[in-house]
Amino acid sequence: MHINNFQKIIEFDKICTNIPISNVREMKQTPVVSLDKINKSFPLEVGGEQQVLFNINIKIYPGEFVAIMGPSGSGKSTCMNLIGALDTATSGVYELYGRDITTMSPDELATVRNEYIGFVFQNFNLLPKRSVLDNVMLPLMYRGLPMTERVRRAREMLKLVDLEKFETYLPTQLSGGMKQRVAIARALAGDPKIILADEPTGALDSKMGNEILRFFKKLNKEMGITIIMITHEFDIASYANRIIHIYDGHIVYDGPVPKNESVLIKAEQKVRK
Ligand SMILES: Nc1ncnc2c1ncn2[C@@H]1O[C@H](COP(=O)(O)OP(=O)(O)OP(=O)(O)O)[C@@H](O)[C@H]1O
Ligand SMILES: [Mg+2]
Repeated sequence: MHINNFQKIIEFDKICTNIPISNVREMKQTPVVSLDKINKSFPLEVGGEQQVLFNINIKIYPGEFVAIMGPSGSGKSTCMNLIGALDTATSGVYELYGRDITTMSPDELATVRNEYIGFVFQNFNLLPKRSVLDNVMLPLMYRGLPMTERVRRAREMLKLVDLEKFETYLPTQLSGGMKQRVAIARALAGDPKIILADEPTGALDSKMGNEILRFFKKLNKEMGITIIMITHEFDIASYANRIIHIYDGHIVYDGPVPKNESVLIKAEQKVRK
């Protein structure tokens, strides 16, 4: 699926080695995710509103593995809901794969979500009474594919996550790590432009959590899958190639994974009162 594209990118990179990376990116492709001057406020019950995100500017390119990191309440999930087209911004422009989705209706957003985004959640969000295979086939339901093709595709994804022998199992019969692998297979089944994972290891012990993170790394490195992962932990964010650190609704750091977390903590001072 993405492999050919990824190889093209690598070949293109070889040609462009002497050109500054930002220019290569401009020439190479459209960002998968482009948030431009995004603000988000929520109405308060007592009247007025609370601003949660301030002037967020993010561009994410195909093949990146990005962690959005920040302490509890900093606005990570709000940001993920916007990127995942589950919610819309109060102001600013959001383009998903070059399409302006800022003003789309809820129905249009649902179509875009299904086509472009593979979600992975902390609590797996699997249908408990449906088999592993049914769960993985779910995003293909709205694609108008014949049943045989859906089954073929779902089996291919289960093989990728090493669970092909478990297709008839129910999620309740699997370990947490296996459940999350089913969720990843489901997220990949629709051939999305991005995998969007909100605290994907939050419900797992550290061994299983590391296994999932290594798997994400492999998907990104070997297949060029674009991954955006939300986390509040530096150790987890370190699996990515880029960290966007949010503090109090502001981006205070956006760059490669620093040697240690103190760099990010220091960056928080930009918005600390
Ligand atoms: N629907 C909502 N209505 C009102 N306020 C909200 C809503 N959703 C989030 N908020 C507020 O926005 C702020 C950021 O919340 P958000 O859930 O994005 O944080 P987070 O970084 O994901 O935190 P956590 O690590 O605890 O999940 C919080 O102050 C929260 O109370
Ligand atoms: Mg959250």
